Parts: sequence; C-alpha cells; structure tokens
Amino acid sequence: MGENSHFDSPKKMPPDFSAKDIRALAEEDLPAVLAVEIASQPRPWSKDSFQNELNNPASTVNVIWHGNEVVGYICYHTLLDELNILNLVTAPFYRRLGVARLLLDVALADGVRNSVQKVFLEVRKGNRAAIALYQSFGFQLLGCRKGYYADGDDALIMLKELFENI
Ligand SMILES: CC(C)(COP(=O)(O)OP(=O)(O)OC[C@H]1O[C@@H](n2cnc3c(N)ncnc32)[C@H](O)[C@@H]1OP(=O)(O)O)[C@@H](O)C(=O)NCCC(=O)NCCS
Repeated sequence: MGENSHFDSPKKMPPDFSAKDIRALAEEDLPAVLAVEIASQPRPWSKDSFQNELNNPASTVNVIWHGNEVVGYICYHTLLDELNILNLVTAPFYRRLGVARLLLDVALADGVRNSVQKVFLEVRKGNRAAIALYQSFGFQLLGCRKGYYADGDDALIMLKELFENI
C-alpha cells in the first residue's frame, strides 16, 4: 500500500502531525475537503461556502494533509482584534490524535501575532467532543442561542480571551 493509505498497515503508529503538514486551502483541494465535511457534519458546508472563504480576505482555512488525504481543517475569520472560528473538523479516521488541538494551536498563535484579544466560536449544545476540546483550551461559556442551527439545535457561544492579564 502506498503513502496515501491509512498508516500503511494497521500495526503502524499514526503519523505525528505538526505545523509542517498544514497548508492553506486551495481551489483544487475543495473536493477532498468537501468529502470530509460531508462525512463529519450534520449540516455540512457546501462547495460554495468554502469557495466564499477562499474569496474572503478576512478568512483563513488551514488544512492538514497526510499524503493526498485530508486529515483535518479549520476555518476562521480575523477582524480587528477578534477571531471567529467558523469550522473545525478532523476526518473520522484521524480523531483523538491531537489534530484539532494542532489546528487550534496554530490558529491561536496566528491570533496572537495579529494582536487578537478575543476568540469566539459557536458549538452545538450536544457536541460533547468539541465542547471538551474547547474547554481544554480555556474557552468559557458566554451564552446560548436557542434554535440557532437550521435544524433547530441550540448553539453555545464560547469565548477565549488571549490577553486576559494585560
Ligand atoms: C471535535 C473534533 C474536531 C475533535 O477533533 P480531534 O482531532 O479528534 O480532537 P483532538 O484529538 O485534537 O482532541 C483534543 C482534546 O479534545 C477533547 N476531545 C476530542 N474528542 C473528544 C471526544 N470524542 N470525547 C471527549 N473529549 C474529546 C479531549 O480533551 C482531547 O484531548 P485528549 O485526546 O488528550 O483527551 C472532531 O471530533 C470532529 O471533527 N467532529 C465533527 C465535526 C465537529 O463537530 N466540529 C466542531 C464544530 S464546533
């Protein structure tokens, strides 16, 4: 089996992903990213949604790759001193390997470089994996938007202050 197969053999350890495996989303990556999105989200983003991000100068979409395979991605907007995380996904096969943590680490470091003070995100109330991830980064619950999602699910709004002690 080649470089693009899942860890080549079931006995092999998964790769240790690092910032060097991250690339900014490009137009030609859209089919591979969309496939992971559809496999991961109850209401997946469309191709147009990702396309809009590519055309938005405030948007960053970073993708982790393993060979030609999409491992995970994050989308965020940086506007003045605020960073909004809009999407964060790890492909099902690569979960619990620290992929989302790496993507968040890199996004927050980018925020620090850009003098971001506050990082916001919305997460489905029942998304225990994502909430645990964000809490482990020190995100605090700010509020709840009832029926925020198209299917009627509530959204929790979470905030992390990057320069709390200044
Ligand atoms: C949420 C999601 C992005 C986490 O990705 P991941 O790469 O598996 O997460 P990581 O391996 O980086 O986990 C980091 C920490 O998050 C928490 N965490 C992640 N998945 C968890 C789970 N299923 N249950 C409980 N805690 C979890 C843990 O604290 C974990 O640290 P640990 O593994 O040392 O215990 C992934 O489950 C996913 O893509 N879900 C579907 C899409 C989604 O819901 N995105 C979030 C939108 S707001």
